[in-house]
Amino acid sequence: MKILVLNGSPKRDKSDTMCITRAFLDGMQEAAAQDIHVINVIDKHIEYCSGCFACKLNGGTCIHDDDMKDILREILDSDLLILSFPLYCYSMPAPLKALVDRTMPLSSMAMQKTGEHYEHVGQADFSRLKYMMICGCGFPNAAHNFEPAVMQFQYTFCGPSTVITVPESPMFNAPEAVSVTAPRLEKVKTAGREYAESGKIDQALLSEIALPMIPEEVYAAIVNGEVKPDA
Ligand SMILES: Cc1cc2nc3c(=O)[nH]c(=O)nc-3n(C[C@H](O)[C@H](O)[C@H](O)COP(=O)(O)O)c2cc1C
Repeated sequence: MKILVLNGSPKRDKSDTMCITRAFLDGMQEAAAQDIHVINVIDKHIEYCSGCFACKLNGGTCIHDDDMKDILREILDSDLLILSFPLYCYSMPAPLKALVDRTMPLSSMAMQKTGEHYEHVGQADFSRLKYMMICGCGFPNAAHNFEPAVMQFQYTFCGPSTVITVPESPMFNAPEAVSVTAPRLEKVKTAGREYAESGKIDQALLSEIALPMIPEEVYAAIVNGEVKPDA
């Protein structure tokens, strides 16, 4: 499988979320060899969309001449597009949002109703593309936290998609938390294996992965300096 990972964390390789993404990709590679390319979005020159719609009227050519040309080409050449990003204000970090806005040239001005909402009709062929969102966050709760980002992702990337969320994700880069993060990353790896083998992940496994790794009150107390991490 040709996999393009858009790493939306400005922390590049030090990203908490990328710990989850790497475990997922390791699982996929255990099942079969994969062709993986990771783009650190923060390092790319991506102008903001200027909202002119020229791309929709000019058959897919954007007025900006920057790194998006190559990125769009790579998206269209992939089987799986993974958006790996930390939750920022219930959404995605701004550099990744700028990239997502700039995928406008992939669709035309024409709109069609899909389910309960409208989407633009494609002017490029991305019918074979599958989408995945892998998202970490700093609060301990998944509910009342990830929903806006999940909805934004699913509305933006219509088509077969999978969502992996893990709360309390700063713990992935905390060596003292390895007793709880290692088993969680094992589950993520299992999910990667399942996905590579069958194209889907058991819902029960996804729900387990989305649980807090330690009780939320304990996590909040540690973050607030009220208890020591090993207490
Ligand atoms: C600007 C900003 C906004 C954030 N907004 C949220 C939020 O809405 N919900 C949340 O749980 N965590 C939020 N966080 C915490 C990050 O999601 C968390 O630190 C995450 O582990 C960072 O992941 P990364 O290392 O992959 O960048 C925010 C952090 C920053 C810097």
